[in-house]
Amino acid sequence: MEIVIFGAPGAGKGTQAKIISQKLGIPHISTGDILRAAVAAKTELGKQVEQIMAKGELVSDELMAKLVEEMLESDKCKNGFILDGYPRTLKQVEVFEEIRKRHNLDNSCLLNIQVDFDVIFKRLTSRLLCVNCNAIVSESEIKEANVCPKCGAKNSLVKRKDDSPEVVKNRLKVYRESTEPILQYYAEHPTLTVINVNGDQPVEKVTEEILTKLENC
Ligand code: AP5
Repeated sequence: MEIVIFGAPGAGKGTQAKIISQKLGIPHISTGDILRAAVAAKTELGKQVEQIMAKGELVSDELMAKLVEEMLESDKCKNGFILDGYPRTLKQVEVFEEIRKRHNLDNSCLLNIQVDFDVIFKRLTSRLLCVNCNAIVSESEIKEANVCPKCGAKNSLVKRKDDSPEVVKNRLKVYRESTEPILQYYAEHPTLTVINVNGDQPVEKVTEEILTKLENC
């Protein structure tokens, strides 16, 4: 099964993709994680995208096409995948649809995680990442200062550069202008199943809703 996990920045795509990937035994391919790893490793790609990401703008469709084609056509994805962060523009939908056609990927669905922007704004400006276990956490989950609530590592929690209030505002604007129209596209060209999910409920409840809806899909 091919799952596109879709939604505004901070809707909970990464949180849910990690859980569902374990439950379904298919890999989680996050374009954001791949780009951040390239930035951290100071690769050629990382140098090209660092400033764009820091401002909350989108990396070019051409660069993304190359990256996503390589990932989806690798052996790792031969039994399905959860694609998080792609497609993000109508041009990227074209590329994704070509890949699907080429590889007969006809068991695809798009999980659209819906959360209001005011809730998202609070989530993103209080998000932390653990560099030790890769967990995504919220400041409200921290019980002991500077200790990751998931793995117990000390001083491992960092803020993403693009989670400052100004950049979050821009990311939401970019989502509205460039990414949200994808929902209209799939409403008019139903080549995959779109499943709407209420993302404004506790994490476990969101997972439950996703799994139930996937079963009935
Ligand atoms: P990317 O990494 O994809 O970021 P994003 O889409 O902005 O999404 P986030 O990772 O910020 O949020 P999320 O929905 O995964 O939420 P999370 O689970 O963390 O992209 C980053 C950048 O890379 C882009 O801006 C762009 O520059 C570039 N890029 C990537 N892909 C690209 C592409 N295809 N084309 C061009 N450029 C591209 O949750 C957020 C917070 O909420 C956390 O603190 C979490 O603990 C909390 N939370 C989650 N679920 C719940 C819940 N149910 N209740 C309460 N809190 C919750």
